[in-house]
Amino acid sequence: MMPRPLPSTRLLALLGAVASTFACVIPDEPLSNNIPEKFSIFVQNASIPIVHNRVMNFRPNGEDKHLVLRPSGEPTFDLMYLENGLLQYEGRHAVIDLEYNPADDTTKMFMTDRTFHPTAIFQPVYSCNPDTDELQIGLELVSRLTDPPVVGGQIGIQTAGDTYEFRYTPPHNALLDARFMSVTMVIFRDGLSPPTPSSTVSSSTSSATPSQSSTSSSTQSATSTTGSTIPTDPASFPPVGNYNFVSCYAEPPTGRALPATYASADDMTLEKCAALCSRYPYFGTEWSRECWCDEELTAGSAPVPLSECNYPCIGDTTEICGGSQRLSLYHNDNWTGPQHPNNVNDFELYGCVTDSPSHRTLTEISFASPGMTLEACADFCSDYQYFGAEWSIECWCGNDFTEGAGQVDISQCSMTCGGNRDQLCGNADRLSVYQLAAI
Ligand SMILES: *[C@@H]1O[C@H](CO)[C@@H](O)[C@H](O)[C@H]1NC(C)=O
Ligand SMILES: *[C@@H]1O[C@H](CO)[C@@H](O)[C@H](O)[C@H]1NC(C)=O
Repeated sequence: MMPRPLPSTRLLALLGAVASTFACVIPDEPLSNNIPEKFSIFVQNASIPIVHNRVMNFRPNGEDKHLVLRPSGEPTFDLMYLENGLLQYEGRHAVIDLEYNPADDTTKMFMTDRTFHPTAIFQPVYSCNPDTDELQIGLELVSRLTDPPVVGGQIGIQTAGDTYEFRYTPPHNALLDARFMSVTMVIFRDGLSPPTPSSTVSSSTSSATPSQSSTSSSTQSATSTTGSTIPTDPASFPPVGNYNFVSCYAEPPTGRALPATYASADDMTLEKCAALCSRYPYFGTEWSRECWCDEELTAGSAPVPLSECNYPCIGDTTEICGGSQRLSLYHNDNWTGPQHPNNVNDFELYGCVTDSPSHRTLTEISFASPGMTLEACADFCSDYQYFGAEWSIECWCGNDFTEGAGQVDISQCSMTCGGNRDQLCGNADRLSVYQLAAI
């Protein structure tokens, strides 16, 4: 006999408040394919840094919502739910249709209220977070409901212009190339209706749960820094690695102050969050156990009195990890964004050069890899005069430029490399070109 599916109340208790401070253990019980309580989604693929831990955004397209990652779209939190495996959001549901690409046999996934598009059917499954070892719940694609349905397949991210889109591949797709970045879709709940804020750390024992529906307050080990008071002087917050304390910040009225990436852990500390956010200038901790990162603060977030950040970090109760809808905000003043280094192996920077799929600029040999770096491309093109990295993951080699190619401002080559977020690798139809250095 099949074990009974986990009721959704218990399921919710697991979202962000897993009853274990030990290594992640996958429970035996299967999960229900109904999650009526609203949630958010982020994507994971630890081997592809440009998409790993990014939060799903919505980009309006008429009445539809396209599904994208930053830099486009708007972060939206706790609006989706799952009904019989169908992902839903304000009267719209997830479908797999349109913008079919015969070159790699992939199709767009988006949300619509129209009923004639084939729907995507998901099953919640447990997994362990590759960074924090937290038990988490992913949405595994079960089928695409064409007639007849196609069972299996995989959701991934592809770049399209300045956007990262959600797309679908059927199973056993021999045409699939490295532009398709397979991801795990993970659900999380964001505490939009926070528990009663506590005024002191020592009273926060039972309220520091990220989800108001959570029933597992027994999991909270953030007992308190009993007897101590919340510091009111920013100077009493020492730097954490390269990050300096900014202030206590309120989340904006809607959305999130630092929505680019999200993590939550039973052993969250300031140091752990700083490490998780090392690719970003800002990190903020919240609700004892949440960690948020981004390049800049969303409009509407604002500094508030330090006393409002009054929750101890669940992994180190001598540290403060924000409060209810409050971030302990840190900034790395020395942070430099991804860059074009002047030299890569024997090559030196030439500039940003135009390209087009029908008329390639560098025509000798090429390859694509989600782990692309400038060094990998330089190695691959070591017998040629030029190498160019494009669209985060492509590498092109040649001894001269095809007629019609032109140099443009270097700022147009602004996509980070798939395998190194400190480097830049072109853009859509833009090559970050390096030239063999004169000996
Ligand atoms: C991550 O991406 C790699 C390379 O595309 C792929 O082989 C792997 O299956 C992906 N992992 C997940 C969890 O999707
Ligand atoms: C940041 O850079 C400044 C000047 O370059 C240096 O004095 C300072 O120590 C650096 N701070 C950190 C935290 O690395």
